[in-house]
Amino acid sequence: MIALACDHGGYTLKETVKKPLLEQGYEVRDFGTNSLDSCDYPDYGAPAARAVASGECDRGILICTTGIGMSIAANKIRGIRCAHCSDVYSAEKSREHNDANMIALGGRVVGQGLAEKIVDAFLDTEFLGGRHADRVQMMMELENP
Ligand code: RB5
Repeated sequence: MIALACDHGGYTLKETVKKPLLEQGYEVRDFGTNSLDSCDYPDYGAPAARAVASGECDRGILICTTGIGMSIAANKIRGIRCAHCSDVYSAEKSREHNDANMIALGGRVVGQGLAEKIVDAFLDTEFLGGRHADRVQMMMELENP
C-alpha cells in the first residue's frame, strides 16, 4: 500500500503520479488534499507519514510546492526516513543507502515525466543493507536522545 499526500501546491502532480501507480497495480491510500484550495501541508503529510511509520502503508509519496515542507514534517514522525528528491539518482540512492520509506517531491520543481521516473526509482530500488544498515540504525538512534 502506497500512501500519497499533498497540499494545494502538490495537488496537480499528486493526481499525475497517482494514475500510473494505479495502472501498475499498486494499492494507493490517498490522504488528500483533493483540490487546489490553499491548505496546510502538515495536515496531510503527517497522517500519511504515520500510516507508513505504523506499517499500514509500505511506502509514501508526499508532494507540496517545493517538497521541502512535506519532507521536514514527515521526518518529525518517528520511524520516517523521507528523502526530498528532484532527480532519479537521489531517489535510487535514498533506497539503496538510506532505506527511505517516503519521498517528497516539489510540484513546481519537477515535471510530470521526471516525477514519474523518480517515483519508479523509489518504488523499484531495494535497500542494499550491509554497512548502510549500520548507518541507518545510527540515524534512527538519533530519535532516542
Ligand atoms: C505553500 O505555499 C508552500 O509553502 C508549500 O506547498 C510547501 O512548498 C512548503 O514547503
